[in-house]
Amino acid sequence: MTFAEPHRDCDLCPRLRGFLLEKRTELPHYFNAPVPSFGDPEPKLLIVGLAPGMHGANQTGRPFTGDWAGDLLYAAIAEYGFSRGTYGGTADDGLTLTGAMITNAVRCVPPQNKPVGAECTACRPFLSAQIEDLTSVKAILCLGKISHDNTVRALGLRLKDYPFGHHKIHELSGGRRLYSSYHCSRYNTNTKRLTQDMFYKVFADIRQFIN
Ligand code: URA
Repeated sequence: MTFAEPHRDCDLCPRLRGFLLEKRTELPHYFNAPVPSFGDPEPKLLIVGLAPGMHGANQTGRPFTGDWAGDLLYAAIAEYGFSRGTYGGTADDGLTLTGAMITNAVRCVPPQNKPVGAECTACRPFLSAQIEDLTSVKAILCLGKISHDNTVRALGLRLKDYPFGHHKIHELSGGRRLYSSYHCSRYNTNTKRLTQDMFYKVFADIRQFIN
């Protein structure tokens, strides 16, 4: 595993850098930096989220840890045998991932959870290098359309050939597959756009594929 994570003081995105500096003053006990990927250094499954949540990953320093989206994601990860230990919502809960790694398309928390296009573009080289470096990966799971579109671009592919859809599966080179799901956000689950059953079915397919 040789890919690089953004530096704590990465300044590729002036808006995100300014936002993090504000949060370092306002919320000094939060992580307030690019959140590094978490999981197995030789994963078969790479899960790509959108960006750290303000009071989840941006607080705890671990992707999807400490918020609603993480409760659903880490439950699915455990259910399909990709973790050991119990998810406790903190970075020191002792949870380890087995065969999976979680990262985000944009590594810094964005205002209103919405990165702009230029921020996705600026952060994309980190994801490209990561995918290239993780030769063990057989399946990539993108959570939400922004994650999906970023991942397709990070792979050097065209969006029109690889459209987003919930539970859509695209074949990639080298026998790999790209899976996509609606994002496991509180909004999507509250509105029933995404149910636990729908989410688990995607994981069940992935588990069967990479077994
Ligand atoms: N937390 C993350 O790390 N990523 C998301 O996409 C949502 C919450």
